[in-house]
Amino acid sequence: MTTSPILLIFGAGPNSGQSVSRAFLNRGYKVALAARSVKESDNTKDQYHYPSDLTDPNSVVKAFERVNKDLGIPNVVVYNAGALTRTSAEDPLAISISDFNSTFNVNTVSVLVAAQQAILGFSKLPKEASKTFIYTGNILNEVTMAQLFDGGVGKAATAHMIEIAAGAYKDKGYKFYYADERKPDGSAIFRVNGDAHADQFLQLAEAKEQVYSRIPVPPENPLSLSLNDFQNSLNLHPTKANVAAQQAIAGFDKLPSSAPKTFIYTGNCLNTVANPGILDIGLGKSTAALIIETAADAYKDKGYNQVRFYYALKRAPNSAPAIFIDGEAHGKFFLELPEGKTQGHWSQTLVKGEGYKAFPYKRQ
Ligand SMILES: NC(=O)c1ccc[n+]([C@@H]2O[C@H](COP(=O)([O-])OP(=O)(O)OC[C@H]3O[C@@H](n4cnc5c(N)ncnc54)[C@H](OP(=O)(O)O)[C@@H]3O)[C@@H](O)[C@H]2O)c1
Repeated sequence: MTTSPILLIFGAGPNSGQSVSRAFLNRGYKVALAARSVKESDNTKDQYHYPSDLTDPNSVVKAFERVNKDLGIPNVVVYNAGALTRTSAEDPLAISISDFNSTFNVNTVSVLVAAQQAILGFSKLPKEASKTFIYTGNILNEVTMAQLFDGGVGKAATAHMIEIAAGAYKDKGYKFYYADERKPDGSAIFRVNGDAHADQFLQLAEAKEQVYSRIPVPPENPLSLSLNDFQNSLNLHPTKANVAAQQAIAGFDKLPSSAPKTFIYTGNCLNTVANPGILDIGLGKSTAALIIETAADAYKDKGYNQVRFYYALKRAPNSAPAIFIDGEAHGKFFLELPEGKTQGHWSQTLVKGEGYKAFPYKRQ
């Protein structure tokens, strides 16, 4: 038994499974790995292995029982296993019921059992413990591909379940995520980046509340967003950024006039680049950029001459959007911004290895 936070990963394989496990171990977690081929003989004091076949949902209950006994109650559960029976695009429904059931168990039924078990555990953890359930999805909850029919049925059903859980358990502080890596143009990726998953999962696990939720936008018809979804996507980022900036100003008012005061919003290129498949994020980033630009100008002549507002983003040296941000480079960059004597340009672009680089600010 341990007082360290505990991560349990179902479907812990060589790619995301190993990367996620390594990242959480480095952060001081004890890690439990469940998959068919893991070996108990590989157990160490911080990492336990539970051979489990997720085509049988009972294996999930057994794994939780053993983890609870060996390590304690997991506060982060990652469900990373995925299954698929390749079907013919001309006759996808010819799949055998036994194959369909087996895939559906891995992609959905065992996930439901894992979520039930996770919730049972979360309810026994101290209030202050972060409680997170992450399911590795893909694009198939939004796009149909006949040859991947049964995999898509499972991912779509589980996305539905995760969305419902994220809303239903929000007030208890339980966070639920459907994680789906995409290419910059919004299309599917076929080999996911394990280390990027690990970074993202750590951030999701450590955030105090449900921090990020996508409103699915059909790229071929982005303006079909319902009024409700449109308003929700604006509420997600810019509304909260505006509240944070208001609170920051209220605090700055109480600081000595000589103290440097800086508000930094981490943006991306979506305030200058239109991408229909991620219109919801673009709406948020563009609105936040406008708030920052307005504040940078408005407060500099109103007795807030020490106050700076920045929209910080990262780009590749050729100005192309950077997909993965570099936490350390951002840290260094964020330290430099408050140290400048006056407000610099409100939009600050970081280029890895080069620091701040002035790109002409223009809509593309
Ligand atoms: N965003 C995208 O477009 C995209 C693209 C590719 C994949 N994905 C998703 O990413 C996840 C996999 O990521 P990855 O490739 O990085 O995984 P990984 O960590 O390398 O491995 C996943 C592991 O799941 C385990 N697994 C599969 N079926 C299982 C079963 N019946 N019972 C127990 N464990 C099982 C396998 O281990 P054992 O053989 O030892 O059981 C496998 O090694 C899947 O959910 C997949 O759908 C998303």
